[in-house]
Amino acid sequence: MKKALKIAALALAIIFVAIQFFQIDKTEEQTDAKEMLEASVRVGPDVSMILSKSCNDCHSNKTVYPWYANVQPFGWFLKSHIDDGKRHLNFSVWNTYADKKKSKKLEEICEQVESKEMPLPSYLWIHRDAVLSDSDRKTLCGWANEQKGKIDARMENAPIVN
Ligand code: HEC
Repeated sequence: MKKALKIAALALAIIFVAIQFFQIDKTEEQTDAKEMLEASVRVGPDVSMILSKSCNDCHSNKTVYPWYANVQPFGWFLKSHIDDGKRHLNFSVWNTYADKKKSKKLEEICEQVESKEMPLPSYLWIHRDAVLSDSDRKTLCGWANEQKGKIDARMENAPIVN
């Protein structure tokens, strides 16, 4: 029994070392200033602060990787959230979205923070400073609703193209 445990521990150690050879790719996509959120939407300093402390790591091309991203399997776990997050919403390519999509995303931003689904809870275990206060949520929702209203008004006024 003791021997079996030793073999199991050794096997785990070997696997742990072996997986370190499979590091994640941290290269960012090139960002075009014209495509960024700030190029078409007014983002005040308060909102900008909330987005950078709580959202941008997974929803922009400005991800800051913690040191343990270099330790697998943690890096794989982080990377899957980052890729998935960016696929759903990426502020660095915001202006490549059509108005309809922008309007929907702004609505979801408010819904996701109000229901506390975002920022992802696993992210908050370590990034304690990313936890949103009630007033942060209010600021973010107020901003998102205002910007959504502007885009919706623009869509209503746009000539109908058949
Ligand atoms: C640790 C990574 C991470 C952080 C930090 C994070 N998100 Fe997300 N976000 C995700 C992932 C992964 C998804 C897609 C899967 C899901 O919906 O759970 C997502 C989905 C979303 C969606 C849904 C988009 C859609 O198309 O359905 C919105 C909106 C969103 N996040 C907003 C935010 C906001 C706002 C913040 C900051 C307050 C934030 N997220 C912080 C990872 C993150």
